[in-house]
Amino acid sequence: MMKFWRKLIILFILELAAAHYFEPFNVTYDHRSLLIAGHRRILISAGIHYPRSTPEMWPHVIAKAKEGGAQVIETYTFWNAHEPLKGQYNFQGRYDLVKFVKLVGSSGLFLFLRIGPYVCAEWNFGGFPVWLRDIPGIEFRTDNAPFKEEMQQYVTKIVNLMLEEKLFSWQGGPIILLQIENEYGDFEESYGKKGKNYIQWAAKMAVELGAGVPWVMCKQTDAPEFIIDTCNGYYCDGFKPNSKKKPIFWTENWDGWYTTWGGRLPHRPVEDLAFAVARFFQRGGSLQNYYMYFGGTNFGRTSGGPFYITSYDYDAPIDEYGLLSQPKWGHLKDLHLAIRLCEAALVAVDSPQYVMLGPQQEAHVYQQRGIGGNYSRCSAFLANINEHNVASVKFRGHVYSLPPWSVSILPDCKNVAYNTAKVGAQTSIKEIQSNLHHPSSASQHVLLFRNGPSLISKSWMRLDESVGVWINGSFAVHGILEHLNVTRDSSDYLWHFTRYTIYISADDISFWKRSGVSPALTIDSMRDVVHIFVNGQLAGSGVGRWVQVFQPVQLLEGYNDVVLLSLTVGLQNYGAFLEKDGGGFRGQIKLTGLSNGDMNLSGSSWIYQVGLKGEIQEIYTLEGTKKASWLDLTVDAVEHPLSWYKTYFDAPDGMEPVALDLRSMGKGQAWVNGHHIGRYWTLSAPEDGCQSTCDYRGKYDSDKCTTNCGKPTQVRYHVPRSWLKESNNLLVIFEEIGGNPFEISIKSHTTHIICAEVSESHYPPLSKWLTSDSIDGNIFINDTTPEMHLHCEPGYAISTAFASYGIPHGRCQRYSIGSCHSSNSFNVVSELCEGKQECTIGVSNAVFGGDPCRGSVKTLAVEAKCLSSKDSEPSFVDVL
Ligand code: GAL
Repeated sequence: MMKFWRKLIILFILELAAAHYFEPFNVTYDHRSLLIAGHRRILISAGIHYPRSTPEMWPHVIAKAKEGGAQVIETYTFWNAHEPLKGQYNFQGRYDLVKFVKLVGSSGLFLFLRIGPYVCAEWNFGGFPVWLRDIPGIEFRTDNAPFKEEMQQYVTKIVNLMLEEKLFSWQGGPIILLQIENEYGDFEESYGKKGKNYIQWAAKMAVELGAGVPWVMCKQTDAPEFIIDTCNGYYCDGFKPNSKKKPIFWTENWDGWYTTWGGRLPHRPVEDLAFAVARFFQRGGSLQNYYMYFGGTNFGRTSGGPFYITSYDYDAPIDEYGLLSQPKWGHLKDLHLAIRLCEAALVAVDSPQYVMLGPQQEAHVYQQRGIGGNYSRCSAFLANINEHNVASVKFRGHVYSLPPWSVSILPDCKNVAYNTAKVGAQTSIKEIQSNLHHPSSASQHVLLFRNGPSLISKSWMRLDESVGVWINGSFAVHGILEHLNVTRDSSDYLWHFTRYTIYISADDISFWKRSGVSPALTIDSMRDVVHIFVNGQLAGSGVGRWVQVFQPVQLLEGYNDVVLLSLTVGLQNYGAFLEKDGGGFRGQIKLTGLSNGDMNLSGSSWIYQVGLKGEIQEIYTLEGTKKASWLDLTVDAVEHPLSWYKTYFDAPDGMEPVALDLRSMGKGQAWVNGHHIGRYWTLSAPEDGCQSTCDYRGKYDSDKCTTNCGKPTQVRYHVPRSWLKESNNLLVIFEEIGGNPFEISIKSHTTHIICAEVSESHYPPLSKWLTSDSIDGNIFINDTTPEMHLHCEPGYAISTAFASYGIPHGRCQRYSIGSCHSSNSFNVVSELCEGKQECTIGVSNAVFGGDPCRGSVKTLAVEAKCLSSKDSEPSFVDVL
């Protein structure tokens, strides 16, 4: 009951807030920045793709982006999600774009809408609806009339929707910026003259839609005068747009990277990320967008490919589950505050003054000449781009020590507010808890849980998917058809069935014995996955992108049934000529290793069937599942390819985000209460190529700081809380290869351990600058005592495990006291923090009652646990 009222009140507040976002304002630009209501602005933008989380999660992630210092939320729009069938639109649920934009507005943030409609984004087919391929004569992303017509219709649809809902800034809405196309510059040459024409057409078409805010094109050096061309990449500080009249924008700052099945997990160190951002603003940039600030999840079959995993965590500042990824989030928050302190100086000048401080050290000074010729308002960035050594530089009469590959930000041209390599923000270590609150109704039978109580169920049912062709919708054709032409992506799966009569002679048998050769099925070229069944048995599988397959098979005398289950695992989302890409098989399919020579099956009569029987019958939905003939699964059942499994389970206690652990399974798809949580696959990353330590210094690339070698790339699959009931949740799994569902567990995710280290020479808290007086337009800082800030998720309280003010040794989870240690450390920290959700500790001798070792720089290191405080109900993520 309580929950119901809380829900209602929140909805009411949201409704109220949705009624007014901003006083209508115009957005234009000059060579320095966007002009918001006539004022130049330095803007931090956070990439959040609305379909990669649930509407129930949106308020939380948007709020965390705002708290982290973003003023703008950026998203693509997803054409194939909004127009799954030509002319039939879907703006519901996770695709409720209007609701998302309104939430951004009601949070007081601006919105940067990248319409595309090609988006890349590791999204299925780069956002293109698959039905586009069927339009006669169509060629994507070029000067092609059928394509342009469809593209224009979709872009117009989106712009008109935003206009109708009054979501543009001049209508009082949050939208300040739009994007047309996406990184076309990478492929423009492939399209020749037609590519050039297309880009001019796209630009003109977009601006003529009457959206009334500026448009950008990313990586488009030939963007016309009225469109801002922008930079995407890991670093954009050298970027110059194609006209002096345009500002410097960074539309995609890749703060992490995506991953494929069987890939390692990439991590971008926050010190390098902060360095890249600081350098961008140092050298005249004015808008920077994190790609991604929150990546989320590729639910269903939305992930692109081939082979992109279901998680789109991206190593972003907010993790896949909506939890803060620390210290990334916190260190960037400090950076954003430091940049904000400089904003007035940054926008006051047209370009900074460059000062060379050393061979690889430089300052950029933003200072405006005030009335009467006096200089006022000064902010400066000091950079050391040397990757190895600390640099000591002199700037305006003071000496500054700059760590390697770092930038110091001086909002008053004197005091350091921030250094990109000095992280004061806490590190958080997540815990995955198994706190099922009570045994499920099916648990009266006593079965042994092998891995503790988080196993999702002791009682499973199974249903075999029949191998091959099973309904009347099948059809026969001589020859091999292109996969997508048949499935139109309505399913990953396409069955191919043929029956072949083989006379196995004594010659064959002696040939096989003598030569060691055995019969095999070979496919000249295939993508993405094929499971090969001969006479009902899985012979093996092929995996790759246009690779050859050679699969030894056992043949019978007489007729043999050959069934190929061809799969796509996310449609190609990057590259030119996507319409030609397709899937399935190319070249010939043959039986080889026969004494009389190869048998070519390519021209045979093949029967085709799209999708799985269970898929078509929707046996994963609450309704559909009742109609299927499920059988009990015994614990000792043999693992079986092509099996459906189902169970009912209780949700873990609390409101923390939860995930299914599917490491006991092989490859397939899973649904919870009819919601498709995505594809799963237990493919492992290579054994080697991961780094034991990650050095932030020097240029980042996605191979630089990888983890998870030798382990499955993804084992946990996010199930949004709003898809769960307290008990009796239906889980249905389709397993292609073989796996053990009894080992599937469900776990909630929380921040469990937090650690932080702040030295007495660290820069003071950014908040101290905000509270200082403003004299003659300058800002000052009086109190320079550094502080440590510790924070647990709502509903959790700090419990100190280690504290040392002095010269502690080790690192998070391995701290120890050194020879210099204040004996008050633990008491001081406990007094300030114990039992609280968050706390702040000053880092100085005064706070710790004296100097534990004169002449040395002291550091405070703290490790604490975040313990669930049962009394306070956590208000977490998607509680609505
Ligand atoms: C960019 C592209 C984005 C995304 C990114 C990699 O080139 O514009 O959509 O795919 O790469 O995550």
